[in-house]
Amino acid sequence: MQKEQILSVLQNHKGEFISGQTLCEILGVSRTSIWKHISALKEEGYQIDAVTKKGYCLVGDSYIYNAYEIKKALEIAHLDMDVRFEKCVDSTNDWAFSQSKEHENLLFVAEEQLLGKGRRGRVWVSPPGYGIWMSYLMKPKIKIENAPMLTLIFALAVAHAIQALYQLDIQIKWPNDIVYNGKKICGILTEMRSDTDGIKAVVCGIGINANMLAFPKDLETATSIRMECGAIVDRTKLIARIMEYFSKYYDIFQKTQDLSMLKDAYETILVSKNQEVCILEDEKKMMALCKGITTKGELIVLDGEQREMRIHSGEVSVRGVYGYI
Ligand code: BTN
Repeated sequence: MQKEQILSVLQNHKGEFISGQTLCEILGVSRTSIWKHISALKEEGYQIDAVTKKGYCLVGDSYIYNAYEIKKALEIAHLDMDVRFEKCVDSTNDWAFSQSKEHENLLFVAEEQLLGKGRRGRVWVSPPGYGIWMSYLMKPKIKIENAPMLTLIFALAVAHAIQALYQLDIQIKWPNDIVYNGKKICGILTEMRSDTDGIKAVVCGIGINANMLAFPKDLETATSIRMECGAIVDRTKLIARIMEYFSKYYDIFQKTQDLSMLKDAYETILVSKNQEVCILEDEKKMMALCKGITTKGELIVLDGEQREMRIHSGEVSVRGVYGYI
């Protein structure tokens, strides 16, 4: 695309003026067409100075969030992964499934979701400008019963990416909430379509509170990366880092088809390890001691009589004794 070629030239010469004539020669297009593309890029948020007789100059770090930038960041991380980006969709999970006949290993990112879905039928509020709302479409050659492990692998990837980029002591609330200081920064919703032959498609949907500056009163257990570390989150960079860790951990998982080689890393940041938790199932409530996870990703707990129990994700909700964690 001509617009992306112009951007690429300006990015390679960031801070320098490139004349309109030079751009015309490089791309073999008219000045009017260059001007139109530059206007479109400015509208997308790129800061481009245009000075008569000097040309065009890309300035500033504008944290641009679009398919081109995300794809470029993935390439820098040596990931050959395609990206779709929309300003507004109902839910990136539903969007990913709608494309699942023709595609796989594709990342769907939206600036805003109108009908963002959380776990257990809850709504996931997804306003524009501040969060990361993305879904990764896969067709893994794994047994149906192993699919829930993908959620734990993503949780580990998100936790490690946030830790690495923002030096926050991130923890995981089993199976897949990413928390900091007892408050939720990210949630993951994995959905699967299958038939008698096995898995047709899996979509891992990730919602990250990146740059929010405040939350409504009814979301008092939520926080954002920016609120905790003060820095503006470059969402493009964070996505690339998450996918880099995910692809590394997914390769490790594939060797054994379980979490045996990732379990230690997961348990190191498991928020309730060796603590009392409250297990809620329908109307039932039980106190237990959390011991860690199995190689299949179930939570291991000891009940009041010290009997070991394994809890499958999806069945129950696990809380701290005094609240959310
Ligand atoms: C949770 O309840 O903790 C899971 C929240 C998952 C939200 C993400 S945002 C991107 C993707 N699209 C959705 O509709 N939901 C997930």
